[in-house]
Amino acid sequence: MQPVKLDGIRACVFDAYGTLFDVSSASRSAQDALGDQWQALSDLWRGKQLQYTWLRGLGGRHADFWQVTGDALDFALETLKINDPALRERLMRLYLGLSAYPEVPQVLRRLKDSGMRLAILSNGTPRMLESAVCNAGLTGLFAAVLSVEEVGVYKPHPSVYRLAVDRLSVDAEHICFLSSNGWDAYSAKAFGFQVLWCNRFGQAPERIPAPPNAEIWDLSPLPESVIG
Ligand code: LAC
Repeated sequence: MQPVKLDGIRACVFDAYGTLFDVSSASRSAQDALGDQWQALSDLWRGKQLQYTWLRGLGGRHADFWQVTGDALDFALETLKINDPALRERLMRLYLGLSAYPEVPQVLRRLKDSGMRLAILSNGTPRMLESAVCNAGLTGLFAAVLSVEEVGVYKPHPSVYRLAVDRLSVDAEHICFLSSNGWDAYSAKAFGFQVLWCNRFGQAPERIPAPPNAEIWDLSPLPESVIG
């Protein structure tokens, strides 16, 4: 699908993990210890991390994303029969310094230079997000780095998406939301944003309400879609 031209966009709001930052880069960086289990660990870790956000939300038992990420890592390590506390600590440290996807810095700079306002809206804690932004050399590019900790519930609760509208003072229809997570992209569209699904992993369409405006495969086409 070709990216559409989206009209009236005044701000671009990005999901963090999987969209700007490569969540698999933590396990990949520990390949020396994990061997050929690194990919399995990465997939189990990410999958369980997201499940725990939804389970905690439904159960009304919020814990922040640092705790949930650690709990999910413990589940993944035990599943793969890896009992190595030092490796666990190393993987958590690596999660604070995930790599940005290669096109990200250039795309963000081009958008910012055009006058577009940029923000992150993420499950991550403020400390995790600050660390990721700083480590990837993206400091100074965002008008706001918004964490779900401000509302105490995870995506896709509408109050999370509302945070971007309130904090940027831009109506939802003038915001382009970007996520590589299909469920996040569809839920953001249902909220009222214009949405480009950055479908980095070639996933099948979701079967939940509100398909995004269009799909892109990485963030490179974004400036053409939203600038003037
Ligand atoms: C985030 C997760 C959903 O950054 O990737 O919010």
